Amino acid sequence: MTKTDAGERPADLEAAIQELKREKGAVILAHFYQESEIQDLADVVGDSLALARAAQEIDCRMIVFCGVHFMAETAAILNPGIPVVVPDLEAGCSLADGCPPEEFKAFIADHPGAKVVTYINASAGVKAMSDLICTSSNAVEMVKHFEGEKVILAPDRHLARWIGRETGRDDFIVWPGACIVHELFSAKGLAKLRAQHPDAEVLAHPECDQAILDQADFIASTTGIIARAVASPDRPSIIATEDGVFHAIRKQVPDKVLYQAPGMDESCACNQCPYMRLNTLEKLYDCLLNEGPTVTVPEELAKQALVPIERMLELSK
Ligand code: 13P
Ligand code: SF4
Repeated sequence: MTKTDAGERPADLEAAIQELKREKGAVILAHFYQESEIQDLADVVGDSLALARAAQEIDCRMIVFCGVHFMAETAAILNPGIPVVVPDLEAGCSLADGCPPEEFKAFIADHPGAKVVTYINASAGVKAMSDLICTSSNAVEMVKHFEGEKVILAPDRHLARWIGRETGRDDFIVWPGACIVHELFSAKGLAKLRAQHPDAEVLAHPECDQAILDQADFIASTTGIIARAVASPDRPSIIATEDGVFHAIRKQVPDKVLYQAPGMDESCACNQCPYMRLNTLEKLYDCLLNEGPTVTVPEELAKQALVPIERMLELSK
């Protein structure tokens, strides 16, 4: 299989991708944090939970996963009969990368008897050691299944603190990871923006720091943030999450006024996930053409990781 040189790619990449998708019997799944052109080419666009469900239910020749590695890995675990290809194998995640399975194993061993609830933003190796997986749309609900029990929450300390507030618990054992995108919003900058637009509603993702969540009117997953923004087309929204969600909102309410929560460094594109943005139309075309790179999970590991993922999907029906 040959990798395409830029010069050989067709001029109309979007049309060529549609054509290849049909030819290869492929289905494109894309996260809301993908660039707008990729979202528009996808068969399913969703948050982590919706994409996991879609991956489980899909019947096709090949899944093209436009998101990050742990999402593609989850799709491969849920639907082992279908090859999962990605535009860029390097598209990781600071949360997943910051929780190596070997170190997590030792962390669990230090807390015997604790139930392990792992955010889906984790490697297959870490998922395999977990009792239950959660996403930002069902995290509070999932953790409530372990009321009265010792619970490890991994790998996002901000999400864990938010779950603690929502459940009234302060006894979670927390792996101290963070998302490099959501951690970079500026509380001072947000306060200034709110003061300039007092009529705006602040919508934030639970991966944000507490100083951001303290100023939020509404905290939810990407799907929740989009739905909330769409539900009030006449009220401006200030949004503290990756700016890929703007496209999904604008498609439904094009005239709505939207503001991005500012980053700590005003000159950076802090609200774009550098991993998600490794995927480009060119790489999407190449991966469809070459049917690779493929994301695979060793069979035994996949079987172990499947148990807590399926449990989550069952419990959050
Ligand atoms: P959700 O898709 O669950 O909102 O999570 C956002 C995220 O950071 C994915 O990496
Ligand atoms: Fe990971 Fe954060 Fe990027 Fe989501 S936005 S993929 S949590 S680094």
